[in-house]
Amino acid sequence: MEPIISVQNITKHYQVHQKEEGLRGSLKSLVKRNYKTVKAVDDISFALHVGELVGFIGPNGAGKTTTLKMLSGLLYPTSGEINVLGYRPYEKKSDFLKQISFVMGQKNQLWWDIPAIESFNLNKEIYEVPEKRYREVVDELVELLDLKHVLHQQVRRLSLGERMKCELVAALIYTPKILFLDEPTLGLDVVVQKKIREFIKMYNKKYGATVILTSHYMDDVEEICDRIIMIDHGKLMFDGPISKLIQTYANHKTLVVVFKSLVERSDLERLGEIKEFEYPRAVIRVPREKTSSVAAELLQKFDVDDLNINEPELEDIIRMLFTKS
Ligand SMILES: Nc1ncnc2c1ncn2[C@@H]1O[C@H](COP(=O)(O)OP(=O)(O)O)[C@@H](O)[C@H]1O
Ligand SMILES: [Mg+2]
Repeated sequence: MEPIISVQNITKHYQVHQKEEGLRGSLKSLVKRNYKTVKAVDDISFALHVGELVGFIGPNGAGKTTTLKMLSGLLYPTSGEINVLGYRPYEKKSDFLKQISFVMGQKNQLWWDIPAIESFNLNKEIYEVPEKRYREVVDELVELLDLKHVLHQQVRRLSLGERMKCELVAALIYTPKILFLDEPTLGLDVVVQKKIREFIKMYNKKYGATVILTSHYMDDVEEICDRIIMIDHGKLMFDGPISKLIQTYANHKTLVVVFKSLVERSDLERLGEIKEFEYPRAVIRVPREKTSSVAAELLQKFDVDDLNINEPELEDIIRMLFTKS
């Protein structure tokens, strides 16, 4: 099956104006401007198939939003190839735009001064959704997201959570095939976060919509995404099932042992996964919760010269990524 989204070696460089400190710097920059290149996205490739629900994760400034903007046609890539639904997004063909939707947690896309239902109506017109279909979609989404009581209030009067739910409805009026969600749960309380997560998951299952979701809440991606794409400093760090990510980076520690007297590999096998063994040194991977008991056992039962307990190398990155801010 052809991928619905295919990205090959894309980069996005921003030119950022740099000014030296102080008055002197200001004067100098009037004469000659210095620019620095920020590599926001640095040679990333991946492909998505219809119906996938992918979590796009990485610390602040990793390049997530920039990538989504390129995928949805808001930004031109500096280099590389992007194909979404058979289109080059930056050409912004209306047939393309009618099949995708982009929701940003930090950015309000609804009309602030009018009730949400009127924004929905506007989207119906813009995206040429037939009346009957529109009714069905709105009724269903409003029901699912429990929004009936807020539809006729000015958007500015809604809570952040209610507004976010309305943003989702507005984005789904025309049943897009691809949904880009940029930090949809940012700043929401846990109950609403959960509700929105469940909704996204349900929507993906029921309509077969392809969803890319960025978040820095671990819970978001852990609960709903089958696949994780992780970026840092614009580079792709990981692409695969979340189980593999956790297994690889977060669930284990490694014990590095140096023995004083002879030990066989088979003596160690029940303690954990032997990653390396060359007497007198062994590297054993142990489930996190068993680390101390295995360490104690090693010290008791063997003649140990040295023992080190190491975190997985990417642990720190992961922790930073998933900090509940
Ligand atoms: N319009 C812009 N001009 C210059 N630099 C930008 C612009 N937008 C983003 N950046 C920079 O590009 C990098 C990636 O930003 P972004 O894609 O917003 O990351 P994320 O969404 O992962 O937090 C950051 O270093 C950011 O400061
Ligand atoms: Mg962002």
